[in-house]
Amino acid sequence: MVTASAPGKVYLFGEHAVVYGEPAVPCAIERRAQVTASHRDSGLRVHAGDLTIDGFTVEYEGSASERPDVDIEDSLVEAGISYVNEAIEQARDAADAPDAGFDVTVDSEIPLGAGLGSSAAVTVAAIDAATRELGVELSPEEIADRAYRVEHSVQDGQASRADTFCSAMGGAVRVEGDDCRTIEAPDLPFVIGYDGGAGDTGALVAGVCDLREEYEFAADTVEAIGDVVRRGEAALAAERVDELGQLMNFNHGLLSALGVSSRSLDAMVWAARDAGATGAKLTGAGGGGCIVALDDTPETTSALNYTPGCEDTFRAELDTVGVRLEE
Ligand code: PMV
Repeated sequence: MVTASAPGKVYLFGEHAVVYGEPAVPCAIERRAQVTASHRDSGLRVHAGDLTIDGFTVEYEGSASERPDVDIEDSLVEAGISYVNEAIEQARDAADAPDAGFDVTVDSEIPLGAGLGSSAAVTVAAIDAATRELGVELSPEEIADRAYRVEHSVQDGQASRADTFCSAMGGAVRVEGDDCRTIEAPDLPFVIGYDGGAGDTGALVAGVCDLREEYEFAADTVEAIGDVVRRGEAALAAERVDELGQLMNFNHGLLSALGVSSRSLDAMVWAARDAGATGAKLTGAGGGGCIVALDDTPETTSALNYTPGCEDTFRAELDTVGVRLEE
């Protein structure tokens, strides 16, 4: 039996635009998904607990037709099952053990589909745990690459390497197409606001894709996000936190123009700004889920706690450790 864990992430800058080759800067946060894999004769049995902040437990036999009986959207459950199935396939492939069976247990502190990279963290941790259980140790870079292939397949070809690379490596990373690297970042005072909901990443990515094809100014908006990211990288390297905040605000405006924000995300962003946050934006695919703000005072957290539509607020530290073996 082997247990591995991997962190979730926030996007400081660049979600959506990264799908079209612009750079993005996600940062790993200290909220982890933990996956335990035990070798069995054949098949795949998965136990998943606490996949949302509210918490629920599912048990299923690892096939999409045998769906667990839980009160969340079917599409999220199906996607969750697919990530685990495909991660196990990657582990079998890496260990050259196509028929290996597994009992897999997933415990995650990362809300599902909320822009904090829950699927990437589960996928990365599952690949690491299952390959180790078969006696093979992959480098974090190899795990990131295999996890990207999982996301690419489950998300119908619409995935960047950002989430999976960030979760495997930890810390702050920069991803532009296939060029993935870790970068230096100061400890940033992240505050997360969560509306209790989730966005459909595939549908949101497809929406931006359509807009980009229909309107030149939408394509320009995607490129403008790339410009914000490049300025943001310089501000991050120089630890100019005020400028980072301003650029996050700009990034949120551009994402909003692309139609991926929502009333509750906007409400949380404005509550954070009114409370004096240095900057605030949605994180991840959008449509619902989380915002990330920068504030080293308690003001943003208090303001979010009183914001209608905000269900949970927490601070998140940058997690410099990526995928790791748990004792
Ligand atoms: O919401 P998340 O954590 O799955 O992030 C999606 C980020 C996108 O840029 C919209 C898609 C991608 O694969 O990069």
